[in-house]
Amino acid sequence: MMKKEIEKIGVFTSGGDAPGMNAAVRAVVRTTLYHGKEVHGIKRGYRGMVEGEIEKMGPRSVSNIIQSGGTILKTARSEAFLTKEGRRKAYQSLMSHAIDALAAIGGDGTFRGAVEFFDEFGVPVVGIPSTIDNDIYGTDFTIGFDTAVNTALQSVDRIRDTAQSHDRVFLIEVMGRQAGFIGLAVGVSGGAEHILIPETKSDLDALCEEARSWARRQKGSRIVIVSEGDELGNAAEIGKKIAERTGIDYRVCVLGHTQRGGSPTARDRILASLLGKAAVEALLDGETNVMVGEVNGEVVRTPLRETWEKKKPIDDRLVQLREILSR
Ligand code: F6P
Repeated sequence: MMKKEIEKIGVFTSGGDAPGMNAAVRAVVRTTLYHGKEVHGIKRGYRGMVEGEIEKMGPRSVSNIIQSGGTILKTARSEAFLTKEGRRKAYQSLMSHAIDALAAIGGDGTFRGAVEFFDEFGVPVVGIPSTIDNDIYGTDFTIGFDTAVNTALQSVDRIRDTAQSHDRVFLIEVMGRQAGFIGLAVGVSGGAEHILIPETKSDLDALCEEARSWARRQKGSRIVIVSEGDELGNAAEIGKKIAERTGIDYRVCVLGHTQRGGSPTARDRILASLLGKAAVEALLDGETNVMVGEVNGEVVRTPLRETWEKKKPIDDRLVQLREILSR
């Protein structure tokens, strides 16, 4: 059977926002127009799809957004889309605008929804990985990760000054849901004394022993990076446990959503531009249910299911650096 030619692409952002999402939207819009097709923006992710918040976009709809964080299309969680009835409404909204393919910008929740929707209604979809967490298989980096790491790093550098001045232990909590990509990158680039991430075993006894030794070894700043999904708990809980056992004075800083905002780095803008273009080209090639990503400098297509079913490994070289360089 001949595949139906794609004439109108719908683009949306979903899940947690990430710096660079706007650059990806811009690339999808302008690439679609470059190929002589139409493009519509769907507001607030799946919620807007269900509720019919859909607008035609032109080249000027995406002017002046490459440098801005957040997402002009907005993002939301949709209870309705989790139901078959909600997804049927979403399908009807798409059909009423004659949208015949989707570019889905987000993380694994976004992709799971897209596959389920395809299975039921057959709307072709290509995913563009965008989450600060970097926890998506099929791309070395997700859009937003580099900016989030650099944003967190600026805070770590500042905290180091005050930690050094007071000879104080600081526990700095970074985001990452259940993944330690941000924690490991921030810890290694920030020269942390200790890095706790969910992918490796965290040992409270060893951490306390090390904390006792920092004063003996005349270490001024004593920075512990805690990834939010670590098995020992959050930064406040871990700080309390260390203090109970050692009596060491400590402070906690939770970087939280500061990591999600801000102007995207050049790396994130370039990645978003490459992948936005690649997503449109994949759709026009007749592809569906794939994610475009960058692996070893090449743009590749990975079946959407694999992006959450396969686990992306953390970089062992960085884990080794953590052990060697924190002395
Ligand atoms: O997925 C990105 C992320 O920032 C995670 O690192 C974090 O756990 C979560 O989103 C926070 O979600 P919310 O904005 O809903 O609090």
